[in-house]
Amino acid sequence: MSVEFKVLPTPAALAAAAADRIVAVAGNAIRRRGRCLLALSGGSTPRLVYPLLASSPRVGAVDWSRLQIFWGDERAVPPDHPESNYGVARAMLLDHLPGLRSDAVHRMPADAPDRVAAAAEYERRIRRLFAGDRPRFDLIWLGMGPDGHTASLFPGAGSLAERQRLVMTATAPAGMAVADRMTFTLPLINAARSVLFVVAGHDKATAIRSVRAGSRELPAGRVRARSTLWLLDGAAAGATQ
Ligand code: 6PG
Repeated sequence: MSVEFKVLPTPAALAAAAADRIVAVAGNAIRRRGRCLLALSGGSTPRLVYPLLASSPRVGAVDWSRLQIFWGDERAVPPDHPESNYGVARAMLLDHLPGLRSDAVHRMPADAPDRVAAAAEYERRIRRLFAGDRPRFDLIWLGMGPDGHTASLFPGAGSLAERQRLVMTATAPAGMAVADRMTFTLPLINAARSVLFVVAGHDKATAIRSVRAGSRELPAGRVRARSTLWLLDGAAAGATQ
């Protein structure tokens, strides 16, 4: 099990390093297993990375017809809502990927009328792709909030203690965009072959210090997959103001 931190000088360099990592892991998974199961991150940081994946040279470096795309978390809004993680990915990435199959894009149904049932159905969909084996994503892409939350796993939330379910409903603390959420749980995240954190901004520096010190106090500090790579910009690493 490896946890690695890399600091990039600027948000642009961070985005390029993240895009390169995604292309490399996807290519490796396709060579080894004929497919790549990728879970996309939510939040605003992916907006820096999507255009790099959706354009040359990287867009031509992956056989997108071999991808199965999921989300690590989602807000309870319709797909065309500005706060939809799916909506952002659709517009900035998915619509630009040659060969990506529509049945390989698995939007997380956080806005379903019965969200508990929808979470269970999303879990069943993931399990079906593993035919009874333990679900292991090739890559789970995550962000982190200033409070140390990741996906929609928030400090002090009951979902952090979950040991069985792979997908759950969640509630964001007051003040965050869209309270009602759906999220991967730690058992699914920590079963991944690799996890990629992409974190920018000095408002994340305090939480990053805690995680880099090895503390498991914060939700993001509890992520320990086979390979966990943290890509930080200088501000998040506390190197620049
Ligand atoms: C979400 C996320 C969340 C996000 C962090 C960082 O849907 O809000 O998945 O975990 O990754 O809040 O968000 P930023 O990238 O906007 O800083």
